Amino acid sequence: MSLIQELDHLKIPVEDIKLATDNFSDGNFIGQGGFGSVYKGQLPVSASASATATRSTRPSTTVAVKRLDVKGGQGQNEFLMEIFMLSSYKHENLVTLVGFCEEGDEKIIVYEHEGRGSLDKYLATDHLTWVQRLLICLGAARGLNYLHTGVGEGHRVLHRDIKSSNVLLDENWEAKISDFGLSKIGPTNQEFTFLVTNAAGTFGYVDPLYVSTGVLTKESDVYSFGVILFEVLCGRLAMIGKYDDERRFLSHLAQLRYEEGKLDEIIFPGILKQIKPDSLRVFSRIANQCLKIDRKQRPTMAMVIEQLQTSLEFQIGCRKIVRIGLWGSSTGGSPWSLQLDSNQKLRKITIDHEDWLYSIGFTTQDFSGTLDSSQRHGGSGGPSGGRISEVNFDVDEEITEMQGTVGKTTGRYANYIVISSLCFKTTKKTCGPFGKETGTRFSVPWDEGTFAGLYGRAGFYLDGLGCYLKATI
Ligand SMILES: Nc1ncnc2c1ncn2[C@@H]1O[C@H](COP(=O)(O)OP(=O)(O)OP(=O)(O)O)[C@@H](O)[C@H]1O
Ligand SMILES: [Mg+2]
Repeated sequence: MSLIQELDHLKIPVEDIKLATDNFSDGNFIGQGGFGSVYKGQLPVSASASATATRSTRPSTTVAVKRLDVKGGQGQNEFLMEIFMLSSYKHENLVTLVGFCEEGDEKIIVYEHEGRGSLDKYLATDHLTWVQRLLICLGAARGLNYLHTGVGEGHRVLHRDIKSSNVLLDENWEAKISDFGLSKIGPTNQEFTFLVTNAAGTFGYVDPLYVSTGVLTKESDVYSFGVILFEVLCGRLAMIGKYDDERRFLSHLAQLRYEEGKLDEIIFPGILKQIKPDSLRVFSRIANQCLKIDRKQRPTMAMVIEQLQTSLEFQIGCRKIVRIGLWGSSTGGSPWSLQLDSNQKLRKITIDHEDWLYSIGFTTQDFSGTLDSSQRHGGSGGPSGGRISEVNFDVDEEITEMQGTVGKTTGRYANYIVISSLCFKTTKKTCGPFGKETGTRFSVPWDEGTFAGLYGRAGFYLDGLGCYLKATI
């Protein structure tokens, strides 16, 4: 069965579309894009694909009708691709397809009308508070993440034209990604999936590396998404043609000001006073990271979602780090602490142990991939028997439980109260116990909140230990 036959049930007669839009009247005109004009319309439910299910409750549905301005066979591939994509992939942050029409010279795509129009119209207005802006970015990020990772085993969709006019907003300001016409499906079974094409996309948003090499990867969408994040923050479009200085391209300007620590100068004045510093720090850091020239340094959309969530939590004050513990001695040695920042993952714990723990050390990784090893907290087992154990964690592995014992040292330096054993459970494995399980037990399972670091006291031994949990309240 050909693709167009497969999509037959979505066909809408051109007469119904003309009726719905008052024959494409100026009064119903919404906007003009690269492929043609968009009109608002009232489509009788009987004409739409979902006719039978909703006839009684929805006599007509408001639609956005995109009438493609194409001559002959031009645009046929994009047309079919758009319909195929939208009928196959459904997500609350993707625009919904109602149907399509291909009769004579007419090629028309009918979408659900998103009541507030596109995001670009609101960037420089007071309609949107900082929190609303963050929620819109989060929704759009979820839509794009779905295309990159959620559409099915072994496949991903590259959007190729991510920009604020392709982020539509429904009546409740929920973001919906639109326009997959330019997108192509790529396999995910290679580490760096890419498609070689003639560079497409929109000036100001398109990945410079894609333009120069013609190689498209999902990180090209991430770049464009970073530009949207700065548009939302700065209340302006990606490119402003009337400027012929550094202000012309927002991607360039924002990176400059970010590096100089002068982002405040370009933040949209209407939201500047609302933004809490921590929220801004997390938001601008991830936006800047999306614009890295080196693709390997750009985050995945899943990381972007995580950071936007954190930025939101800082803004609305529901993010809290709680300390649990301390076990062992609260006076021995001196204090140490590892509190993970929202862009850091714990990749390795190094423990020097015998019948008790001498020291603990950590290796973290930030989202650009840079590894950082802390000094070891505590002493060294030395030749008498200290053993070094390393526990490695995957990027997507979380510590979910910690157990241990508090005991006393013996031998030459006897009777110090120290951590005598330690064991971690993660989403993937159990690690340990390290040391010897003697003395008093302690354990920290957590149902709510996530691991956010460890702290304690250490001198010649690991004297005391506690942990940080990130709680969302
Ligand atoms: N489903 C929809 N609901 C409401 N408004 C829409 C819808 N689809 C498009 N629009 C409006 O119509 C305008 C034109 O859309 P169109 O997608 O044709 O052009 P564009 O996004 O500006 O550029 P491009 O052709 O590169 O995507 C958009 O800016 C948006 O405001
Ligand atoms: Mg568009």
